[in-house]
Amino acid sequence: MPFPERVRIVEVGPRDGLQNEKQTIATDVKVALIDRLADAGLPSIEAAAFVSPKWVPQMADAAEVMTRIRRKPGVDYPVLVPNMKGFEAAAAAGVNEIAVFGAASETFSQKNINSSIAQSLERFRPVVAAARDRNIRVRGYISCVLGCPYEGEIAPAAVARVADALFRMGCYEISLGDTIGVGTPGSTLAMLDAVAQHVPVDRLAGHFHDTYGQALANIYASLGRGVAVFDSSVAGLGGCPYAKGATGNVATEDVVYLLHGVGCTTSIDLDRLIDAGEYICAVLGRPSNSKAARAMLARRSA
Ligand code: HMG
Ligand code: MG
Repeated sequence: MPFPERVRIVEVGPRDGLQNEKQTIATDVKVALIDRLADAGLPSIEAAAFVSPKWVPQMADAAEVMTRIRRKPGVDYPVLVPNMKGFEAAAAAGVNEIAVFGAASETFSQKNINSSIAQSLERFRPVVAAARDRNIRVRGYISCVLGCPYEGEIAPAAVARVADALFRMGCYEISLGDTIGVGTPGSTLAMLDAVAQHVPVDRLAGHFHDTYGQALANIYASLGRGVAVFDSSVAGLGGCPYAKGATGNVATEDVVYLLHGVGCTTSIDLDRLIDAGEYICAVLGRPSNSKAARAMLARRSA
C-alpha cells in the first residue's frame, strides 16, 4: 500500500511528556510550550490530563492550563479524562476534545486507572455519551498494545477486543499505545492487522514510546499499512508514571523529519518545532532526545 499523502501528528509532549517530571513545571511554562507548538503548525496538541492529582500531581493545573492557552483556530487541544469527574471539569474548562484511556493488559489497567478492563469500559461509556451530547470529540487510547511492564507479551486479539469496544462506543479514533516501547515492526504489523479487522485503518493512530529505539521503524511500518496519524512528543519528552523504565514518546522532530523525507506532507514547520523543543529543554535543564533536532541545531550554529 502507498504511504498516506498527508499525515497528522498529535503532539503529546505537554501531557505524556511532562506528566512524569519529578520537578513541578510552572503553569506558565506549560502554556508557553503549548502556544509555541501551535505556532509550529501542530494540528493537535494534547494539553493536559483531568486525572486525580493524587495519582499524577504534575497534571493538577489542567483547568488553569486550558484557560490560559491561546486557542489557535483550527488546532485541537485534547485532554485526558478517566471518569465523569474528569469530564465535568474538562467540559467546564471548555475543551473541544477529550481522550479516554484504557489498556490491553489487566494488570496495567489496575495500576494506571484502578479498574479492570471491563470496569474501565463501563466507566468510559457515560463519559463518551456525555461528550458526544456536547459536541466534544472523543479519542480512545489503548495502552500496552505491544507489551506490558507487568504481564509481558500481549496478544493482538486482546488489543483488537478493546479497540472494537472503544470504537463502537463512539471514539472517533483509536490510538494504539506501545507504552513501554518494546514493539518492533514485526509485532506492530501483527497487532495492526488484528485491530484493522475491527476498526478501519483511517481511524487508527500509532503512539510509540522509544525505549528500545524502534519507534521510527514502527511508524514506517505502520505507514505502509495506511496509518496516517501518529502521536509524538517534542524533544522526545516523557514516560509513564505507571510504566517504570519506559522512556518518552518518539520525538516529534524525528517523526516530522522522517515523514517529510518519505514524501508525506504535514502542517509542521520543523524549524519552529525545534525552537519549541529548545525552549522546554532549557527549562528542564537537559538536552533534547531528538536526534534530528540535535543535528539541525549543530548545523545552525556551524
Ligand atoms: P481512584 O482512586 O480509584 O478514584 O482512581 P476514586 O474515584 O476512588 O477517587 C479517589 C480520589 O480522587 C477522590 O478524591 C476523587 O475525588 C479524586 P478524595 O475524595 O480522595 O479527595 N478523583 C479525581 N480528582 C480529579 N480529577 C479526576 C478524579 N477522579 C477521582 N478525574 C482514577 C481512579 C482513574 C481517578 C486514578 O487512577 C487516576 O487519576 N489515574 C490517572 C493515571 C494517569 O493519568 N496515568 C497516565 C496517563 S495514561 C498514559 O500515559 C498512557 C498513554 O500515554 C498511552 C500509552 O503510552 O500507552 C495515554
Ligand atoms: Mg504514552
